[in-house]
Amino acid sequence: MLTVKEMTGLEGKRVIVRVDFNVPQKNGVISDDNRIVAALPTIKELIAKGARVVLMSHLGKIKHKEAPEVVEEQKQKNNMAPVAKRLGELLNKEVVFVDTTRGDKLSNAVNALKAGEVLLMQNTRYEKGEEKNDPELAAEWAKLGDAFVMDAFGSAHRAHASTYGIPEILKGEGKQVAMGYLVEKEVSSLTRVVDVKKENHPYIAILGGFKVSDKIKVIESLLKKCDKVIIGGAMAYTFAVALGKKVGSSPYEPDFVDYAKRMYESGKILLPIDAVVANDFENPTDIKTIEGDIPEGYQGMDIGPKTAKLYAEEIASAKTVFWNGPMGVFERDEFTAGTVAVCKACAELKDAFTVIGGGDSASAAKKLGFKEKFSHVSTGGGASLEMIENDGHLPGIDVLG
Ligand code: 3PG
Repeated sequence: MLTVKEMTGLEGKRVIVRVDFNVPQKNGVISDDNRIVAALPTIKELIAKGARVVLMSHLGKIKHKEAPEVVEEQKQKNNMAPVAKRLGELLNKEVVFVDTTRGDKLSNAVNALKAGEVLLMQNTRYEKGEEKNDPELAAEWAKLGDAFVMDAFGSAHRAHASTYGIPEILKGEGKQVAMGYLVEKEVSSLTRVVDVKKENHPYIAILGGFKVSDKIKVIESLLKKCDKVIIGGAMAYTFAVALGKKVGSSPYEPDFVDYAKRMYESGKILLPIDAVVANDFENPTDIKTIEGDIPEGYQGMDIGPKTAKLYAEEIASAKTVFWNGPMGVFERDEFTAGTVAVCKACAELKDAFTVIGGGDSASAAKKLGFKEKFSHVSTGGGASLEMIENDGHLPGIDVLG
C-alpha cells in the first residue's frame, strides 16, 4: 500500500485528505485537539511536496431523518469553522475554510488554491449521502482531487462517501491513493495486538465501559487471541448477573446475560471481586466498598481495591496489552482508583507492548498523566475495536490497496 511519503509528482496537484477532525467542542471551543495535532505530519508532508491540500472530515452526528429545524440545529452545533481556525493556529498558516460541501463555491475555492495552500471543507455529514456512500456524492467529491490520502484512522471502520467512495473512484481512474502517517502508525501498532506472536504472550486485554452489547464481537475475538480478558466498568454487572450475583441498582443488560455466561465459560475472563458502590449516581451521599452481592439501593461505580490489586498483579505478567474502556466512573474523583490502578499497572510494564484503543481510556490515561508510558494510544475507539474483530481489516484502509 502506497504511503504519503512515497507519493510523487504532487507539485500543484489537488490532494484530497480525509482526516478525522471529529473533536470534542462546546460553543465553538475545542476541548481536545489531539486528533488535529495527530494529522499535522501528513498535512505538512503534502505542503512540502507542493500539493494543493483539500481536507475533508466529519464532525459529530447529523440525523437527516429528523425534522428540518432539528437538522439545522445539529449542523450549527457541528460546524467545522472552529476546527479550521485551530488548524490554522497549529500550522501557523492560513487555512481556507469553505462553509459548504458541494457546488461551484466549493469547486472554485479548491481550483483557486495554489501549491502548498490548505483548504478545509465544511463537515462531510452536512450531506445526507455521506454515510450512505452515495455514488453521486462520492463522484462529485472525487472530481476535486488528483490524488487521495487517508489519514482518518478514527473513521476507517466507516465505508462512507468520503472514506470509501472517493478513494474507490480515484483508484479506478489510476490516480495515487495512499495512507497518511497517522494511519500508517495506527495500522502498524494495532497489527501487533491483532496477530500476537507466541513469544509476545501473555496477551492480556482489559475491557471496560458501559455495555456488553457494544463489545460482543470484540470479546469473542479477544478470547481467541488473548490469555486473559479482564472486565471492568458497568459491563461487569451483566457478567455478575450471569454468575447468579445480585447487582442492586447497577445497570446491566438482561438480554446479554446468557451471552456473558457463555463467554465466561471460556475460563479466560477475570471479573471484579469487590466494588465501590454508591446510593445515587448523580449525588452520592453514601459510598462504600462491597464484596459479593451489591445490596438494593446501591449501584457499582468502580472496581474495589481487592479487584484493583488482583488486576494489577495479572497485568504485571503481560507482554502484550490491549486496553479499551475505563474500570469505573473515572471522571469523578471518588471513582477513579480502579482505572488509575489498571493504567498504572500497564504503564509500569517494562518489556511489553501496550496499546490503548482510543475513546474514554485514552482520555483517562491523558488525564491521569500516563499517556506517554503506553507504546501506542490509538485515535480511534470504534476503529481499533473493529480492526481486532475483523482480523486487521477496515474498509477505509482495505480500499486503498
Ligand atoms: C469517532 O469519534 O469514533 C470517529 O470519529 C467516528 O465517529 P462516528 O462514530 O460518528 O462515525
